[in-house]
Amino acid sequence: MLQTPTSDHQTAGGGDRDELPVLRLAGLKTQFVLEDGVVDAVDGVDLEIGRGETIAVVGESGCGKSMTARSILRLVDRPGKIAGGQVWVPAPPDSEVREPRRRRGLLRRKKDVPVLPDAPDGMVDLVTAEQPTIQAVRGKRIAMVFQEPMTSLSAVHTIGNQIVEAIRLHEPLTKEEARQRAIELLGRVGIPGPEKRIDSYPFELSGGMRQRAMIAMALSCDPELLIADEPTTALDVTTQAQILELLKSLQREFGMAIMLITHDLGVAAQMADRVVVMYLGKVVECGELRSLFAHPKHPYTRALLRSVPALGMRRGARLDPVRGMVPHPYDRPTGCAFHDRCDYFIPGRCEVAEPPMITDDDGHQVRCVLFEEEN
Ligand SMILES: Nc1ncnc2c1ncn2[C@@H]1O[C@H](COP(=O)(O)OP(=O)(O)OP(=O)(O)O)[C@@H](O)[C@H]1O
Ligand SMILES: [Mg+2]
Repeated sequence: MLQTPTSDHQTAGGGDRDELPVLRLAGLKTQFVLEDGVVDAVDGVDLEIGRGETIAVVGESGCGKSMTARSILRLVDRPGKIAGGQVWVPAPPDSEVREPRRRRGLLRRKKDVPVLPDAPDGMVDLVTAEQPTIQAVRGKRIAMVFQEPMTSLSAVHTIGNQIVEAIRLHEPLTKEEARQRAIELLGRVGIPGPEKRIDSYPFELSGGMRQRAMIAMALSCDPELLIADEPTTALDVTTQAQILELLKSLQREFGMAIMLITHDLGVAAQMADRVVVMYLGKVVECGELRSLFAHPKHPYTRALLRSVPALGMRRGARLDPVRGMVPHPYDRPTGCAFHDRCDYFIPGRCEVAEPPMITDDDGHQVRCVLFEEEN
C-alpha cells in the first residue's frame, strides 16, 4: 500500500517529476482589502522546496506564515485574495486530473492581468490553473495539516469516514479497501487499536490523537509535500516530541518534503534542513539550518534567537524578547518594515528604501542594508 505507481513520476508533459522541486513560489502576494485599508498578508514571497527537503517557516504571530501556506493551496477565504505572483508545482499527470484537460493549466486572462512568466518546464502555476488541476494537487500532491485540528476535521463524521473520503477522492479504491488503508494509516501514526478508533468522532479523541488523525488524513494519498502549520502548538511537550518524531520517520519512509510552520525555533532546529524567517509578509532571511542558527544575519533573526533559551545557557540567565511589537498591519513602516524595532537602525537609510534580497556564495539570503556593502 501507499506505493506510488511508476506513472506518478511523470509530469503532464512526460518529464520526470523527480528532477523538479516540489514547490516554487515567485513573488507571491496575498492581500486582505478591508474597509479601513489593505493588509499585505503575504508580500512578495520567493521560495523553493526541493524533493524530500524539510523547511521551517518561522516568525512572530501575524507575519504571514499561515497565509503563505493557504495561498499555496488556494485556500484563502474572502476578503483575502491572491494579488500576484506564481505558485509553481510539478504538473499532475493527465490521469489524475478529473475533467477534460481542454482548459487545464491555461491562464485565466482578464483584461488587466499582465503577461505572466512562462512556467518552468513540467510545472504548472496554481494561481492561474483551473479547478481540476488545483484539485488534483490539493490533498494528493500537496497535503496540509492545519493550525487548528477542528478546521480540517469535521465534528459530525467519524475520523474513519473522513479519511476514507479523502482517499477515495484521489484513488480508485472501494470503500472497504479505503477503510483498510485508513486503519493501516491510523496505526502508522501511532493511534492504538486503530480498528476500533477508526469509528471514533474527533471529540472522542485527545488533542494529540486528533493531531495524529489529521496527519493520517494528510498522508492518505502519499503527498510529495506536507505543509504542517503549527502541528504541535496545542500539545504538551511529550506529545509534541512524539508527533515531531513521527513526522520525521514518516518523511524517511515516504520521502516527502515538509514545510513546517512554527513560531518555535526549537522545533525548527530539531526538524529543518533550511529555515525561512518571515516578517510582515516578507522573507527577511533564508539559509541552511546550521548556517542560520550559528551565523544569523538579519537583526530580526538575531533578536528571535536571543528570545529563546539556548542549550548550555546558565540557569537564571535572562531571555531577551524582541523589542517592541509587530506593527499593526495597516501601519506598515516604510523602507525595511523592521527598522523601528532594530538595534542596528541606520537613520536616513533603513526607513527610506526596502532593502533587496542579498544572496551570499553559500546561498544564505538576507534582506538588510548591513549586508549590501559586504556583497
Ligand atoms: N480573515 C482575515 N481578515 C483580515 N486579515 C487577516 C485575515 N486572516 C489573516 N489576516 C492578516 O494576515 C496577516 C498574516 O496572518 P497569518 O495568519 O498568516 O499569520 P501567522 O504568521 O500565521 O501568525 P500566527 O503565528 O499567529 O499563526 C496578519 O496580519 C493578519 O492580520
Ligand atoms: Mg498561523
